[in-house]
Amino acid sequence: MRRLRFEEGADVAQDIRDKYAFDGDLLALFSENKGEVVHKWHHYIPIYDRYFSQFRGGKVRFLEIGVNKGGSLQMWRSYFGQDATVFGIDINPDCAKFDGEAGQVRIGSQADPEFLNKVVDEMGGVDVVLDDGSHKMEHVRASLEILFPRLAENGIYMIEDLHTAYFPKYGGGYRSGDNFFRYVRELIDDMHRWYHRKGLRHPDLGGQVSGLHIHDSITVIEKQPVHRPTHSRVG
Ligand SMILES: C[S@@+](CC[C@H](N)C(=O)[O-])C[C@H]1O[C@@H](n2cnc3c(N)ncnc32)[C@H](O)[C@@H]1O
Repeated sequence: MRRLRFEEGADVAQDIRDKYAFDGDLLALFSENKGEVVHKWHHYIPIYDRYFSQFRGGKVRFLEIGVNKGGSLQMWRSYFGQDATVFGIDINPDCAKFDGEAGQVRIGSQADPEFLNKVVDEMGGVDVVLDDGSHKMEHVRASLEILFPRLAENGIYMIEDLHTAYFPKYGGGYRSGDNFFRYVRELIDDMHRWYHRKGLRHPDLGGQVSGLHIHDSITVIEKQPVHRPTHSRVG
């Protein structure tokens, strides 16, 4: 993906401001970061803020899959504030050294139900999940199927770097059966179960998805109580 890399030394903040008309706090937290490395696509910054800003300053329980160099956990701590519960998980045991810095770090696989359930228990529940882990199709699906049912009402489940859905190396491929957007299609069908007779493909997810948003390489799944739709003629 070298061809899409931003020019070394050029003004990251200006690029984000100019292209996305975004100048929120997260822009400075990212572009002026002097701590551990945080590597993000520029267009993600306003998207994060669009979905996460509602949780700032409160007692949000935030879980990031993928800790790597610990930089993003620092960014999220600064963004959400001191009252937030910030957890990161990673399969790499080296990441344990970041435990207790910006948040808590636990070591295990994003595809391991026992591990994930234990982490969520320890967090006392979860309001926001950001999947920035292996980006492999099977892992993305596994984490979603384990964690979405545990997400609190009004919670947000965000998956990033989903360009990997087009990469065979990650279990994806253009229009392949395992491309994550195929799975998203099934969730869309489940959201519209009132209008067909095929039933729910993913009862633990589809029945509780209140909104699905697709951005370049990011999928956001909202969880709110879903009601049988009804309509009226008034006047
Ligand atoms: C893209 S990096 C995370 C970057 C970090 N969120 C940031 O923005 O600075 C992806 C991380 O996912 C971890 N990872 C890979 N496979 C995993 C798995 N099965 N379970 C949990 N973490 C995994 C890798 O060790 C790596 O540290």
